[in-house]
Amino acid sequence: MRFTSILTLGLTTQALASRACKTDEDCSLNGVCRPEWSWPWSTRPTNLNLWFSRDCDCGSGWFGSNCGSLDLRPVNQDNGYNHSADAVDPSHPGPHGNSSRGGQILQDSHNPGLFHLFASQFANGCGLSGWRPHSFIMRAESRSRPQGPYYFADSVRETFWHNPYVFWSPADRKYLLYSIGVDDDAPQRENCRSINYTQWPNNISVASAEDIRGPWSPFEMILDSKEPHSANPSPWPLWTSKHRTSQIILGVEDNAIFMADKYNGEYLLRWPRVGARIFARELAGPWHFHQHEAFNSTVHYTDGSNQTLKRRERAKLFFSTDEEMTPLYMTMTTGVQEMVAGSASSTLIQPIGVKWREYERSLGF
Ligand SMILES: *[C@@H]1O[C@H](CO)[C@@H](O)[C@H](O)[C@H]1NC(C)=O
Ligand SMILES: *[C@@H]1O[C@H](CO)[C@@H](O)[C@H](O)[C@H]1NC(C)=O
Ligand SMILES: *[C@@H]1O[C@H](CO)[C@@H](O)[C@H](O)[C@H]1NC(C)=O
Ligand SMILES: *[C@@H]1O[C@H](CO)[C@@H](O)[C@H](O)[C@H]1NC(C)=O
Ligand SMILES: *[C@@H]1O[C@H](CO)[C@@H](O)[C@H](O)[C@H]1NC(C)=O
Ligand SMILES: *[C@@H]1O[C@H](CO)[C@@H](O)[C@H](O)[C@H]1NC(C)=O
Repeated sequence: MRFTSILTLGLTTQALASRACKTDEDCSLNGVCRPEWSWPWSTRPTNLNLWFSRDCDCGSGWFGSNCGSLDLRPVNQDNGYNHSADAVDPSHPGPHGNSSRGGQILQDSHNPGLFHLFASQFANGCGLSGWRPHSFIMRAESRSRPQGPYYFADSVRETFWHNPYVFWSPADRKYLLYSIGVDDDAPQRENCRSINYTQWPNNISVASAEDIRGPWSPFEMILDSKEPHSANPSPWPLWTSKHRTSQIILGVEDNAIFMADKYNGEYLLRWPRVGARIFARELAGPWHFHQHEAFNSTVHYTDGSNQTLKRRERAKLFFSTDEEMTPLYMTMTTGVQEMVAGSASSTLIQPIGVKWREYERSLGF
């Protein structure tokens, strides 16, 4: 009875069907393109076509008609690592406490309730604008939740090292730490001024360690920076349980995707340009570029308030550990000021979608 009436409606109205997707690529590979049943009385007048229209069914953590937006959830004000307003040593030249940038979460391999945060921190209270040469790599710990709050644990590499990216490489059975920088031999610096990149280019180096607390091997340079801005390395191992490779893919700011057969091998250019968000089924492409923003600068807090930040950058995702790669948290650098003289910055950790609750429950939090 019901079916008959739909059919009648369907056949007697004009086609208004909008096909939301044709392939999974139209869903950014963050979801799948599925046939969708829609009922004429709950949508607009329609025809048979719309009953079988195809829509993106987004994976957990993603939303939007092309699954291109991160489903960021309200965040606790004290999440992450915000030590930008801590009291500073009066002998320090800067007022910005332990400002930080570009944090990344790792779960401890022995103690699942312990989380590590690797980030750039700025020495001497200098803040973000004095990043070159004041940036160094630090490790902080949280025993409460993956979201933090995190507390300073140790300095991984003294100045000048910046943009750390750490992951466990199953092929090498080691942690790999990618970073830009050089060792600064200068005596104690007396001001927070930055150094020109022509003096210290953004070359990328890698170090390794069997334990997340180190000791780390000396840095080996893997990418010589021809461009002033080829910073912000984003490496990822291509290893999966079905494809046990030591190959590493390395994305670089504004520029390119490189690939190497092993982490300390030769990195060859595989794709020359990186947009706002790019994805492909195969490394060889085709790669799809989307300028559509995955998130914006407004942060909603769990107490109902919100803040639109002046800086929200160097976002990194923490994925589920089941090879599904469900995004659970995003760490990001936040600053309430533009990058003016000084400028405090901190690291905020925001939950994504709904699966993080399950993850935290499974850890007993
Ligand atoms: C970090 O802490 C400072 C001082 O408590 C605060 O003013 C600032 O809003 C915090 N930043 C974020 C992004 O919450
Ligand atoms: C700030 O960083 C220094 C290392 O530069 C560390 O010794 C200190 O404990 C940190 N302070 C806080 C409050 O985290
Ligand atoms: C860095 O040095 C180069 C070469 O001397 C110069 O052209 C450039 O303007 C300098 N950049 C800054 C930000 O000072
Ligand atoms: C970094 O790269 C530059 C430019 O390509 C090169 O001249 C320089 O030797 C490298 N620096 C270090 C410390 O290896
Ligand atoms: C920011 O993104 C949220 C959804 O994540 C959206 O609701 C909001 O309108 C966006 N704000 C701006 C200014 O685009
Ligand atoms: C942010 O909070 C203000 C003040 O409570 C409110 O007027 C505004 O609508 C909120 N903005 C968003 C995007 O939720």
